Amino acid sequence: MRYVVTGAAGFIGSQLAEALVARGDEVLGVDCFTDYYDPALKEENAANLDIARVDLAEQELDLEGVDGVFHLAGQPGVRSFGNVFEEYVRRNLLASRRVFEAAAAAGVRVVFASSSSIYGEAERYPTPEDAEPRPISPYGITKLGCEQLAHAYAAGFGLDAVVLRYFTFYGPRQRPDMALARIVDALARGASFELYGDGLQSRSFTYVADGVAATIAAMQQAPAGSLYNVGGGEEATMRDAIGTLEAVSGRSLDVVEGPPAAGDVRRTSADATKIERDLGWRATTALEDGLRAQWKWASVRVAAP
Ligand code: UGA
Repeated sequence: MRYVVTGAAGFIGSQLAEALVARGDEVLGVDCFTDYYDPALKEENAANLDIARVDLAEQELDLEGVDGVFHLAGQPGVRSFGNVFEEYVRRNLLASRRVFEAAAAAGVRVVFASSSSIYGEAERYPTPEDAEPRPISPYGITKLGCEQLAHAYAAGFGLDAVVLRYFTFYGPRQRPDMALARIVDALARGASFELYGDGLQSRSFTYVADGVAATIAAMQQAPAGSLYNVGGGEEATMRDAIGTLEAVSGRSLDVVEGPPAAGDVRRTSADATKIERDLGWRATTALEDGLRAQWKWASVRVAAP
């Protein structure tokens, strides 16, 4: 098959693209290498991929001869208050509008990477897909807006869209602004880590290779218009995660406590019943194993000259 992967130079997109290539699919990567974090890291992620530089908020997406679009491009990060909101609107809503419109016109499926952040402080835990969405971050609001936009293009133009709500993916290449990447980096360098709040906030951490498998299964098997949580592996508090990484690395972390951050939810916990029932997918990587893989990947890089 021939797929477009948007955000193909990113943490998740690059590993999705590589997994597709390994299966024998042809991948046309698209990325605009924004400077939300060091674009050199994206160049590194993209080293073995064929990636076109396209700014989806401004340029058309060519879907001639394409069998499906994995739409992972976007402006990430829940701590998104302030003037940066314009970038969230542009890179999430405006870019997705073009992707959905192009896919509807070409009659190809879009698998859209949404986020657990659309639940905000969730109505219930573990959180099923029909819980009321009530995001508490500007980022989450734009992701929810993108989901709604996909519905609108499905209703108005027959778009075949599948929405996936990713729960805090981690593993090799994790974005450097994310907590586990910062912890691993601090352990490797002997630097300090700023913990936002009391560290008892928890996440349904999802190992990236598991999430990539769910994303491919959604393209291949999900009914049109379906919506799934991708998570539900191990829920852990930040203090648990720090303890596990200390054990894995054999080092102790210098934790500096700071105030809680606006936009952060206290807890995420995925109910993954639906994706397991429909697609036969569930998260299988134990947090300790996944963190070991992330530590190994990051510590070698820090040690390298
Ligand atoms: C992450 C991603 O950043 C979002 O792009 C994504 O949409 C979301 O997961 C999701 O999957 O729903 P988050 O869960 O907040 O968002 O992930 P982290 O940025 O790794 O933060 C995890 C926890 O660590 C948060 O409670 C945060 O307050 C804390 N943290 C983060 C710190 O204590 N210190 C830091 O330096 C960074």
